Amino acid sequence: MSQKTWGGRFTVSTDKRVELFTESISFDQRLYKHDIRASQAHARMLGEVGLLTNDEAKKICEALNEIGETIEAGKMEFRIELEDIHTHIERALIERLGDLGRKLHTGRSRNDQVVTDVKLWTREAIDQLDKDLAEVQKAFLVLAEKSKDLVLPGYTHMQRAQPILAAHYCLAYVEKFQRDRDRLQDCRKRVNILPLGAAALAGTSLPIDRHSVAAQLEFAEVARNSLDVSSDRDFTLEFLYCLSNIAIHLSSWAEEWIFWASTEFDFLILPDAFCTGSSIMPHKKNPDVLELTRGKTGRVIGHLQHMFITLKGLPMAYNRDLQEDKPALFDSFDTVSLSLQVAAPMIVETLFKADRITARLEDGFLDATTLMEYFISKGVPMRSAHEAIGNLVRECESRKCRLAELPVEKFEDILPGHGPGVFALLGVQKSLTSFRSYGSTSPTEVQKQLDYWNELFQAP
Ligand code: ARG
Repeated sequence: MSQKTWGGRFTVSTDKRVELFTESISFDQRLYKHDIRASQAHARMLGEVGLLTNDEAKKICEALNEIGETIEAGKMEFRIELEDIHTHIERALIERLGDLGRKLHTGRSRNDQVVTDVKLWTREAIDQLDKDLAEVQKAFLVLAEKSKDLVLPGYTHMQRAQPILAAHYCLAYVEKFQRDRDRLQDCRKRVNILPLGAAALAGTSLPIDRHSVAAQLEFAEVARNSLDVSSDRDFTLEFLYCLSNIAIHLSSWAEEWIFWASTEFDFLILPDAFCTGSSIMPHKKNPDVLELTRGKTGRVIGHLQHMFITLKGLPMAYNRDLQEDKPALFDSFDTVSLSLQVAAPMIVETLFKADRITARLEDGFLDATTLMEYFISKGVPMRSAHEAIGNLVRECESRKCRLAELPVEKFEDILPGHGPGVFALLGVQKSLTSFRSYGSTSPTEVQKQLDYWNELFQAP
């Protein structure tokens, strides 16, 4: 008898090159626990509806446990002629149980089986990422608390723009990663719908109970349409998008800190344990971890493109192209999860060079916009105030001085009677305390944000 589960229809054996070309065991062996769990739920259900006796279902479940242990112990020999993890496990069951093993695949197909396994795996991956992301958020909270009173230059176009509290900066990343967590939870809702029982594409004439399987596997719902769900990889696309978004957030953070750790910026002391040296230049301390975080993002985004292209031309229902989803899926998850796990401790152990940052804080007219807003609040039209302060900045550039160093008459010229008032807000520290809008970098608003996140992360 053919080793193939589908051998009956064939008269000659498969070309060896085809076996090499079509196999997926080299990467889908990673799904063995999910495959076993889903098969056990399926077997129990077959017992419940009378397609197996309860005793048969029990024997199958026990044998599947043993097969799981064999794989866990590295004792299962994987053979490309057995294609994939599903066939390996079924073959091992048949080897143990003979004809009883041949009954497991009743009312199911590898098409619904594989998507069930991948959904079980994705659900776990989402839960892991949620933890990884929370650790990075907590790390930014620690850094925010550690550098509470420090003021940073805020940039737009990489040009000095307005002052921001270091805590405000850290909490901006906490927000970004919160959105990533929320997105994953939303994706999880669509992952958490049971495909099994869709069989090949059309369902089955056998009296299976899909709701029992869903309950056992903790799926919130059963897919309504067998044709849809057996061909659905939207959830993979969505998950790869979520991963890409996380990677992009990590990548811009990495880019920023690569700059900030340079002699030119000199804003940060990166922890030694998260940097590497040069084989020729003895003085070097390189931010390779940050560079690889940025670099690996390209791969993650590439996998998303790969999935888009794989899906764009597929008619319903299952097509073997879908097997190509897994290398992309696994690699994106591994890459992003590990990037997050490296980022969290690195962020906690990084220090801002407060003295270096503060020493140059008055460069770049970070207080110019606050000065403009002062005149607006005294009744000068916004556009007129903008132009007047622009002229003063030009004046400062030619005198090589700061706004606070200009004579009071210059401000009197803008609005008589209100010249001396500017000195209460000029200079970066003072200008920062004049912020007041909701969500701004004002110390009280930032404290509110800190309270919000601290409470959220302390909650059990
Ligand atoms: N290894 C396949 C995959 O990953 C499993 C499904 C195969 N189904 C089939 N009809 N050939 O997609």
